[in-house]
Amino acid sequence: MPGFPIRDDEQVLIFERSRSGRRGTPMPPSDVPERPLGELLAPEQRRAAEPRLPEVPEHEVVRHYTALSLLNHHVDRGLYPLGSCTMKYNPKVNEEVARLPGFAGVHPFAPHHAAQGALRLQYELQEYLAEISGMDAVTLQPAAGAHGELSGVFLMRAYHKARGKLRSRILIPDSAHGTNPATVALAGYDSLTLRSNAEGLVDVDDLKAHLDDEVAGFMVTNPNTHGKFERRILEIADLVHGVGGLMYMDGANLNAIMGVTRPGDMGFDILHFNTHKSFSTPHGGGGPGSGPVGVKAQVAPFLPVPVVRKEGAEYRLDWDRPQSIGKMHGFWGNFGVHVRAYAYIRSLGNTGIRETAEAAVLNNAYLSARLVGKYGLPYGRGLHESVFSGSPLKRFGVRTLDVAKRLLDFGVHAPTIYFPLTVPEALMIEPTETETREELDRFADALLAIAREGETDAERLLAAPHTTPVGRLDEGRAARQPDVRYTWAPARAETAAAR
Ligand SMILES: Cc1ncc(COP(=O)(O)O)c(C=O)c1O
Repeated sequence: MPGFPIRDDEQVLIFERSRSGRRGTPMPPSDVPERPLGELLAPEQRRAAEPRLPEVPEHEVVRHYTALSLLNHHVDRGLYPLGSCTMKYNPKVNEEVARLPGFAGVHPFAPHHAAQGALRLQYELQEYLAEISGMDAVTLQPAAGAHGELSGVFLMRAYHKARGKLRSRILIPDSAHGTNPATVALAGYDSLTLRSNAEGLVDVDDLKAHLDDEVAGFMVTNPNTHGKFERRILEIADLVHGVGGLMYMDGANLNAIMGVTRPGDMGFDILHFNTHKSFSTPHGGGGPGSGPVGVKAQVAPFLPVPVVRKEGAEYRLDWDRPQSIGKMHGFWGNFGVHVRAYAYIRSLGNTGIRETAEAAVLNNAYLSARLVGKYGLPYGRGLHESVFSGSPLKRFGVRTLDVAKRLLDFGVHAPTIYFPLTVPEALMIEPTETETREELDRFADALLAIAREGETDAERLLAAPHTTPVGRLDEGRAARQPDVRYTWAPARAETAAAR
């Protein structure tokens, strides 16, 4: 249970802490003559009224944000086992190097001779990712895994277009992450869903039945979203290549295999990386992260511009790529995230990369062994993650959602639930390599206690969470009509100030 309760007076808006005239830092008197605003800004550029900002001393601001951070669960506080989209611990050295003035302050329009360090870092990161994945070339532009997917499917389209026939369809297994079919639709392709077999792997007969010259490619995660390694991947690659299609790997699960085997050696032509899952960077979530894309030589001419190249001892941006799909991101991608991924790879080194994968698999094996008795594992143990099922608790009237809510009372972040859709009452758990055995035990103990509670006191479980500031939400309504309590609300500040 969380040891230190969050007080009611901590659950207020910063506007409610505001009192007229309070200041964080006294400003020194101005030593230059004041100029009327009218001389500096045209009337249409000026505010009609003063901005309504909270007036609070520094320590109140610090306490406010500290309290806010405790309302949230984060990876600096404990395990974050959100299967498929998990977070590993982000070492603070990543943050430190990303803040080095030479990296943090480099201007995107700096001429290449003035940005050699930044370009070198990007070039070397491209090289490391190519080596780890077995690909020939890499772009760092995409801002997240899903954005990498979109870039990858655009590359697939450009490849087929250059060969004279665009093709219309991309095949995707039913276990795939939702972003896969969404990406395919966004890129203008039809997606066709293939079923998994009883082991949770691609049903190769179903694949064969759907292969023809309209298939632009096959998009699969390996290990897949059941955490299972596609053992027949070489045969699958031959089949897809046999009809002229390309092999796309959603590399989100690379953490399970990096340093052990390489997608490029399995027959994949295109893959995206999720740097937050493999290389300890902040999560993109479609936004400010990074989802680099690696390709084999035959797809390389279509990579987004610019690509970072090395000419002699100098690093340059190569814009001269007539077959490029164009730009996928402003400037050169999210450089700060590249620095963090680079720092992680460099701090691990060759053997560390492999040990990372081995530890991620070991941690998952340990958790799976502890939990399998109470939560079923319909497809068996996965490599780096396993998909459990809350179905055994259904006879007590308890669902996976109730288990996830109750976990919050134990100060533990809930795993992914109800995904993949192939597993009823799914609980998808991915611990990553960065957790200690004690932390894994804390999580397993909580889940086992909840399962026992489901058998003896289901009512308590159904009403969970009991210790969080906000109880069980109407999730549908919360999504459609977000509560304004925790949003920007200057009007409430006025009420507070008037108190
Ligand atoms: C298998 C898989 N594919 C794609 C994505 C999408 O990545 P992102 O959230 O960075 O857009 C994720 C999320 O981590 C994922 O787990």
